[in-house]
Amino acid sequence: MNLTEKFSDIRVKSPLVASPDNTIIFQKTPSHVQFSLFIGILTRPDKYDRRHFLRLVYGIQSSPIANIDVKFIFCNLTKPEQRVFITLEIMRFNDIIILNCSENMNSGKTYTYFSSIPRILSRRYDYVMKADDDVFIRLAPLALSLEPLPRIDLYYGFVIPCASMNPSIDYMSGMGFLLSWDLVEWIGNSDIPANDTYGPEDKLVGKWLNMGNKAKNRFSNKPAMYDYPGTNGRCSHELIPQTVAVHRLKQWDQWLHVLNFFNVTKELKYSNLYSI
Ligand SMILES: *[C@@H]1O[C@H](CO)[C@@H](O)[C@H](O)[C@H]1NC(C)=O
Ligand SMILES: *[C@@H]1O[C@H](CO)[C@@H](O)[C@H](O)[C@H]1NC(C)=O
Ligand SMILES: *[C@@H]1O[C@H](CO)[C@@H](O)[C@H](O)[C@H]1NC(C)=O
Ligand SMILES: *[C@@H]1O[C@H](CO)[C@@H](O)[C@H](O)[C@H]1NC(C)=O
Repeated sequence: MNLTEKFSDIRVKSPLVASPDNTIIFQKTPSHVQFSLFIGILTRPDKYDRRHFLRLVYGIQSSPIANIDVKFIFCNLTKPEQRVFITLEIMRFNDIIILNCSENMNSGKTYTYFSSIPRILSRRYDYVMKADDDVFIRLAPLALSLEPLPRIDLYYGFVIPCASMNPSIDYMSGMGFLLSWDLVEWIGNSDIPANDTYGPEDKLVGKWLNMGNKAKNRFSNKPAMYDYPGTNGRCSHELIPQTVAVHRLKQWDQWLHVLNFFNVTKELKYSNLYSI
């Protein structure tokens, strides 16, 4: 069956809007957990401030239907001070994975990420995602959009070219795409990716999967994933309530706009400790 047809009507609901039909979103009962997702945010060692901010952004989110772990991924440290500052982060947060690769090498980080992750993680996840550090992902809508999809042979994201609605042609944008665990293992085991690691990393993943005749299940989550308004032609559109991911957030005013639009800080309960 064509996944696009089957799922073209998915409309994810915002977890922050209470309505009679989405009360399940607010239940935190473990028995509702249906799948697990590992999100690796590919970033660079020196981006301390960005990691601090993203820890806040993801630390306050969760989904009742998925176990979601978020970690930062980068290549080998290159400066003496990084060994101290990043060790502090690891001791405090334990959310960093350092791959055996070189940051200034224009190839192979995504390959190293997917091919190493089964060995690095102490457990299996249903899905593994690669995300940029300039994207805002809303975890609850992301999980809702994954709930009805296959757990195997799945390639999910925002299909390129921007205007395309056909997930079976070409590849998913590097802003944030995910693979089911079987495909992650395949990347680590097959000769096809190992032989072809140089080039635009998101495009390569699509190429490997096509060459390997993999990822029969593909899902492009448009319009819920997109670039920030005005930043990238037809990949951009206005912020919409059913958003899963907004990409190209380079400036604080853009983050502010996004956090306000999705009412992220409205969750704060009144307290004598502060008046905001
Ligand atoms: C790390 O990568 C280098 C260069 O590709 C390789 O020579 C080395 O064996 C790798 N080390 C480990 C521990 O995998
Ligand atoms: C990364 O660092 C390790 C340990 O210092 C080293 O063995 C390896 O060769 C480095 N890998 C690359 C690709 O530079
Ligand atoms: C890997 O690349 C080499 C050189 O391009 C080619 O000869 C070989 O057939 C490739 N192997 C696979 C498994 O694609
Ligand atoms: C944010 O809150 C406002 C006011 O309660 C509401 O009208 C709006 O729909 C909410 N936006 C989203 C994206 O949930």
